[in-house]
Amino acid sequence: MRIKSIDAHAISDTRGRETIETTLSTGEFEATASIPSGKSTGSHEAKELRDEDGSVTTAIQNVTGEITVALKERDFSTMEEIDAFLCELDGTQNKSRLGANAILSISIASARLFAQEANIPLWRFIADTAKVTPHAPRLFVNVMNGGAHADFRLPIQEQILVVGEETLKESVTVAHEAFAELGNVLRGELSNLPMGDEGGYSPSFDTIERPFEILADIVSGRENTSIAIDSAANELLDGDEYVLLKKRYTSAQLLELYTQLVEHFHFHAIEDPFAESDTESFTEITAKLGDRVIIIGDDLIVTNPKRIEDAAVHKYINAALIKPNQIGTVSETIDAVHKTYEAGWHAVVSHRSGETYDTFIADLAYGIGAHGIKAGGLAQQQRLAKYERLRVIEQEATALSN
Ligand code: PGA
Ligand code: ZN
Repeated sequence: MRIKSIDAHAISDTRGRETIETTLSTGEFEATASIPSGKSTGSHEAKELRDEDGSVTTAIQNVTGEITVALKERDFSTMEEIDAFLCELDGTQNKSRLGANAILSISIASARLFAQEANIPLWRFIADTAKVTPHAPRLFVNVMNGGAHADFRLPIQEQILVVGEETLKESVTVAHEAFAELGNVLRGELSNLPMGDEGGYSPSFDTIERPFEILADIVSGRENTSIAIDSAANELLDGDEYVLLKKRYTSAQLLELYTQLVEHFHFHAIEDPFAESDTESFTEITAKLGDRVIIIGDDLIVTNPKRIEDAAVHKYINAALIKPNQIGTVSETIDAVHKTYEAGWHAVVSHRSGETYDTFIADLAYGIGAHGIKAGGLAQQQRLAKYERLRVIEQEATALSN
């Protein structure tokens, strides 16, 4: 494949911040990708290149300048070749020179071009490249947003409804019904119901338990639903203790809180229960609760194949969150998935809190047969686009199998 032209420009993400959108053309085919942006980030993530004023001007110039010059002189036969070429061109460990956002925009758009050339859907291309069996993921719908995504009105960043119906079409329908019902319950209880960064409600309560009591009612009438949380505990750490609703918790006390929650409510998963530096507590919670709920690592492992291998040795977690922009190419994202599966763990594919209309993660989640997908609440079009893409993928998969 030879890329004939490259265009890149800035668009707005869901927080109204600039992010990069890149379009590649081979003459015959054209593909576009735009890149999301996180707020509660892990310290080992690949570097999103942002200028001091918050813009992505330099990242865009890197795409339209240096990367365009380098790519246009060459032929590539696989996506892995393009990704390896981009990593080499960048020359740093964390893509800080050209920017992980710049590089990933080329990587995702080129994956789309290869899929178009092969005349197959993107998820099928990903499954073939990764050599895994595609499968529908459960929906991890962030219905109540807190932490850094909502000025800490709720201490825990994400209160998630996990929906795993027979088909994606049914899962999406159940998620919409449950989300609407939750909105009615919250509006009945609270005088003020703001929304959070990820398109979910952002209520405040006096106790840690109240949101789960409400969610318990929502899941009780729905057979294939359960509760998950993402504590994003890097953001809760103050010194060597955690602060929730102005109360301080040692790691042991926080573990006790999680244990109580799992005992009282129908929990399916806990993500980033402790800060990335508090690795011993990860091993403890996985040993204690890991046979009842999945313990997902996000900021701890940052979709980095080496960090996932290390986490497996220490049994920190038993599931990995997979976010392409934490590592910066599609090929390395697939490597991270392989390391996750080699560890015997589940993979949960995820968006970022600042999102675009790009639906790549829907194809990725389906293509790698992920256990789940985190695509946010149902009150933002950029999140709904992912759920809609999942429904279309299901139709494509049915058509291909007939
Ligand atoms: P982020 O949050 O995109 O702000 O990092 C998402 C998450 O923590 O899973
Ligand atoms: Zn997270």
